[in-house]
Amino acid sequence: MKVSSTNNNSISTSNLSKFYRNFRAVNSLTIDVSPGDIFGFLGPNGAGKTTTIRMLCGLLSPTSGYAKVAGFDIVKDSLKIRSIVGLLPESSGFYNWMSAEEYLLYFAALYKIDTHLGKKRAKDLLEIVGLATKSFVPISYYSRGMKQRLGLARTLINEPKILFLDEPTLGLDPKGQQDIQKTLLELNREKRVTIFLSSHTLSEVSSLCNRVAIVNRGRLVAQGSIEELRTLAGSSSGLVVRILNSPSAQKELSSLPYQIQTNTTDNNRLIDVHVSDGVSESANEIIDRFEKAGLQIYEIRRMGMSLEDVYFKLTEAKKKEDQQTLPEAQQKPKSKEEQRQRHA
Ligand SMILES: Nc1ncnc2c1ncn2[C@@H]1O[C@H](COP(=O)(O)OP(=O)(O)O)[C@@H](O)[C@H]1O
Ligand SMILES: [Mg+2]
Repeated sequence: MKVSSTNNNSISTSNLSKFYRNFRAVNSLTIDVSPGDIFGFLGPNGAGKTTTIRMLCGLLSPTSGYAKVAGFDIVKDSLKIRSIVGLLPESSGFYNWMSAEEYLLYFAALYKIDTHLGKKRAKDLLEIVGLATKSFVPISYYSRGMKQRLGLARTLINEPKILFLDEPTLGLDPKGQQDIQKTLLELNREKRVTIFLSSHTLSEVSSLCNRVAIVNRGRLVAQGSIEELRTLAGSSSGLVVRILNSPSAQKELSSLPYQIQTNTTDNNRLIDVHVSDGVSESANEIIDRFEKAGLQIYEIRRMGMSLEDVYFKLTEAKKKEDQQTLPEAQQKPKSKEEQRQRHA
């Protein structure tokens, strides 16, 4: 059976690159986003996130490589892609004299949506983004957070099944960030919208996204679920067993059949025991061994690398790898002393 390409809400790129003269803003990027994903595109400023998003939305042509969005080629079908995706750019201009409702109707008309339907959609969207009671107020009175929510409503006017958001919570206060994130989760769960979201905020990506690509200096560092990235970073999962300290605790700890590291805490009252070997899905055996050794368990928790740790570890590893594989001419310039020695 032939599957219609228009029903496929996925995004895939293959060695996608964008050079500005000789500068590689996006360098051989290969990523895959499945339908229904909330995909986090994570990287520091200048990593190439905006450039990538603009290419995927058919607004900028790649220097080389290719990509498909919802089954359409980003170069040949750029007009089609622009009509079916939603894009919330890094910064949007607003017509401040309009009300939110007028603003959405204006965009509905640009998409040639029938007036009656446009009115209904505008009303529903203002409800979704929590601006229904402010829909007749001029946009000039809106806070930054309200403007960003209105921007989000605008990107939804054509009912896109794929939504691109370029750092959507940048510069918003915690409440503003939460409002946007909540709406995105609802759109994804209730309307099955595939979301491609760029961010340099690790906490946002780890709380919102099911899959992540880390980019740095135009290159892909890693992609996968947060769990997969943790494994890639070589994160050893383990358990921290917090026990009550006692005169015999050290002796009892030394009888455990595990490699352990200990830290006393709470004014010497408690000891954190890090167990990283022999840790399986169930903690029963470990608890059992601790009890048999005569130790009093206060609490027990699993430890895993935070996304922060994973991010820095992977980015650092990639940087080293690049430096080793780069042709000599592209490596960091050598010191004057080294250059003199080479040319002597
Ligand atoms: N039009 C342009 N001309 C030259 N360089 C550009 C242009 N647009 C972006 N860049 C450069 O490309 C790199 C990636 O930019 P960008 O995609 O905006 O990164 P990000 O969104 O991750 O901060 C940056 O170093 C930026 O300065
Ligand atoms: Mg950007």
